[in-house]
Amino acid sequence: MSAAEPDATLGEPIIEVDSLVRHFGKQTVLNGVSFKVHAGDTFVIMGGSGCGKSTLLRHLIGTEKPTSGSIKIFGQEITGMKADALQKLRGRYGMLFQSGALLQSLTVAENVALPLVEHTPLDAGLIDTVVKMKLEQVGLTGHGHKKPSEISGGMKKRAALARALALDPPLVFSDEPTAGLDPIMTAVVDELTQRLTQKIGATVVVVTHDMNSVFRIGTRIIMLGTGANQGRIIAQGTPEEIRADPDPAVQQFINGDPDGDGVDDTGELLYRDMLLRKL
Ligand SMILES: Nc1ncnc2c1ncn2[C@@H]1O[C@H](COP(=O)(O)OP(=O)(O)OP(=O)(O)O)[C@@H](O)[C@H]1O
Ligand SMILES: [Mg+2]
Repeated sequence: MSAAEPDATLGEPIIEVDSLVRHFGKQTVLNGVSFKVHAGDTFVIMGGSGCGKSTLLRHLIGTEKPTSGSIKIFGQEITGMKADALQKLRGRYGMLFQSGALLQSLTVAENVALPLVEHTPLDAGLIDTVVKMKLEQVGLTGHGHKKPSEISGGMKKRAALARALALDPPLVFSDEPTAGLDPIMTAVVDELTQRLTQKIGATVVVVTHDMNSVFRIGTRIIMLGTGANQGRIIAQGTPEEIRADPDPAVQQFINGDPDGDGVDDTGELLYRDMLLRKL
């Protein structure tokens, strides 16, 4: 297929990032990043620790401003957008983050209600009805009155998912949504996220270093480089294309052979190893 020929498998572009650059002081964290996220994609951003994944996500949400480059969301340029317009746009986002997932002082139900209170004119009775429905969808019926400290890690992630999807958002952002979960609970949360986002027809952008998650949920994937390739996209495509990518940095990351001894460790092990070497 030629570059000019549209790919019939892709939906309309929901996010268009062009030549994004971000410096922090002398450090260039994003270095000419361009990609499109299409309707219905589960778009995965992967790469080693410190490669700029979370920074890129914060630019997409508009909490960080680029040094240069353009970001269009639903066709609107967000880089110069005023705070109130950005806030309005965020009413169409669902957001799932590793840190600060749930407000500890509120109950599970109050957490799930937050986006509804902030972004809709619904009265308390209707909000209560929506919250009950969302809790049921994630298997937390009967747990709404509890505080986050009273439920398990997997339940917290599911409560955060219910909150992220409270507004039936057309676009969902998530950063390491399954961090800290064991592989079985990770699969459960991945599967639930996939099922519920597909049900509402949401496009999903997810940052993860978990190789099982990448290939379980990703429909399109980009990998950001480290070292000399810091802040550049070193691979992009479908899961099949990424698996077949000849770049050794990509293969090492997805197959994980940190010692170069031919032993096929997992990407998770490689990631942990990289963190340990940094300590
Ligand atoms: N606000 C900031 N000020 C200065 N440097 C920053 C800031 N935010 C991020 N950085 C730097 O940008 C680089 C990329 O950080 P980022 O958190 O985006 O990486 P990451 O790929 O999400 O890593 P991890 O997998 O560990 O979460 C790091 O070197 C970090 O120190
Ligand atoms: Mg990060």
